[in-house]
Amino acid sequence: MKKLAELYRGKAKTVYTTDNPDLLVLEFRNDTSAFDGQRIEQLDRKGMVNNKFNYFIMSQLRAAGIPTQVEKLLSDTEVLVKKLDMVPVECVVRNRAAGSLVRRLGVEEGYIFNSPTFELFLKNDALHDPMVNDYHCKAFGWATDEQLAKMKELSFKINTVLSELFAKAGLILVDFKLEFGLYKGEITLGDEFSPDNCRLWEKETLKKMDKDRFRQSLGGVIEAYEEVAKRIGVPL
Ligand code: TMP
Repeated sequence: MKKLAELYRGKAKTVYTTDNPDLLVLEFRNDTSAFDGQRIEQLDRKGMVNNKFNYFIMSQLRAAGIPTQVEKLLSDTEVLVKKLDMVPVECVVRNRAAGSLVRRLGVEEGYIFNSPTFELFLKNDALHDPMVNDYHCKAFGWATDEQLAKMKELSFKINTVLSELFAKAGLILVDFKLEFGLYKGEITLGDEFSPDNCRLWEKETLKKMDKDRFRQSLGGVIEAYEEVAKRIGVPL
């Protein structure tokens, strides 16, 4: 496999084509973005930590029967993945109130829901990722009812698997964001799962161990990511 040209540069990762049209290379950079790219800073080691974290989580999910795009860890900051035709919406699962839901519904941070919630957001920085629903997805042709049903089913299954994995390490999985795409017609998990796109709180102290440390300028961002990685057994 040969890495060829840069295909797309996102806020935190760069995507490269390879000599195999079905495979891409994802490179995790140190860039850390918040507020739809309005604030971007370089955090030492972040590319490496998130790449290895993501590879570990995706391997666990694959073992639990979730189709993922991940093929092979290539280096500290690169992973080989299947090329997906991405669905342009983000799927957010929440177990407790935090972030935008607190602002939207006026509940207290940490409020524990009776059952997990599922929300869809259109990927569009200029519009600040507006919330959309199943009807928008169908009306604009972003995803069919069948594809949405699969995305929802996989999102809740991922919530079950990962809530347990983090609970064993003394951490609460508060919420997380997933992105799916199609590989040969099958809904497949893409993008990444790392402390950049989930909320993790220490069970005993409720200390934030995720990107909220960056968003809220709490300091010790990468140290927290590394602590989570160590606790769940990610080899760094
Ligand atoms: P929110 O509370 O800001 O809506 O975020 C919900 C979850 O989604 C949280 O774990 C952070 C994650 N997220 C992303 O990964 N990317 C984004 O652009 C946003 C807004 C949230």
